Amino acid sequence: MNHEAHAAVLDREPAKSEFLSEAIAGLSSTPRTLPCKYFYDARGAALFQKISELPEYYLTRAELQILDRYCGDIARALGPNIELIGLGTGAGTKTRILLEKLEVPAAYIPVDISKKQLERSTASFRKIFPTLEILPVCADYLEPIRLPSPARQALRKIVYFPGSTIGNFEPDAARQFLQRVANHCRRGGGLLIGVDLQKDRHVLERAYNDSAGVTAQFNLNLLARANRELGADFDLEQWQHYAVYNSTESRIEIYLISEIDQTVRVQDRQFDFRAGERIATEYSYKYTKESVIELTREAGFDFSQMWTDDARWFGVFYFICSRGR
Ligand code: TRP
Repeated sequence: MNHEAHAAVLDREPAKSEFLSEAIAGLSSTPRTLPCKYFYDARGAALFQKISELPEYYLTRAELQILDRYCGDIARALGPNIELIGLGTGAGTKTRILLEKLEVPAAYIPVDISKKQLERSTASFRKIFPTLEILPVCADYLEPIRLPSPARQALRKIVYFPGSTIGNFEPDAARQFLQRVANHCRRGGGLLIGVDLQKDRHVLERAYNDSAGVTAQFNLNLLARANRELGADFDLEQWQHYAVYNSTESRIEIYLISEIDQTVRVQDRQFDFRAGERIATEYSYKYTKESVIELTREAGFDFSQMWTDDARWFGVFYFICSRGR
């Protein structure tokens, strides 16, 4: 097996033309939106890394606490000789904890939209796990992608989807996405997924409105990126970050609000905004243990186990695929 051939990242990063067409479509729709996957350019990935360390943003800390405490149990549930597919694993802090406990994993396939971060984490993982076959893929995992096949045949495929990113999907889209995951893992495969749980709205709102203003910078970076890459002319001074919990829909809603009446150009298109008008940049749905189990069951997964933190704010769930094709 020629490892050199796999040293580079398999590059399916979305093209700029896709960002442009999705941004124009989003800004033209009612309510207006911008697609959240474009948060994670190099600067956005670095800002998100800072968010994950903020005192108010409990999600990452809670998930890490769970992994630290239960990685032995989790590794036992996943079993030996697995192919681990990581979706949006970022810097890889959580995956590393898991890989250290796994019994002779067959291969690790990280899929992430942030190329720089994927290259960096792959290089460091290759040093830490020199005998593990690692096949990084830079891609938007929302699109159907063909993943590389490892050299060694694994006992089963397990998808690891950390960070409560499933909460960033509309429930219908989440179900469809998980169905595709089930079809990929096939019967007997598994899904290890980190999900943020419903809790007091003030705790939730603080997590998305930190006092240092990093989340605001992260949200505004989407406009800065549109300026850099699409030649848009958003005036960052005239937009305000806003996050609020919608308890009817059980989701945090994240917006950019126009401070004034203004016109924004994106290449040959113009968009008029009234003062107070919003662009929705991301929703973050919050689930209960029961609603996670129901969502995944509809997609073809049987609940196996849940691990949680002391406050029961976050859940790491393991499901077994019962009817993937
Ligand atoms: N997946 C993360 C979450 O829902 C993303 C996130 C955290 C985020 N803070 C944000 C997205 C602020 C937009 C704005 O928690």
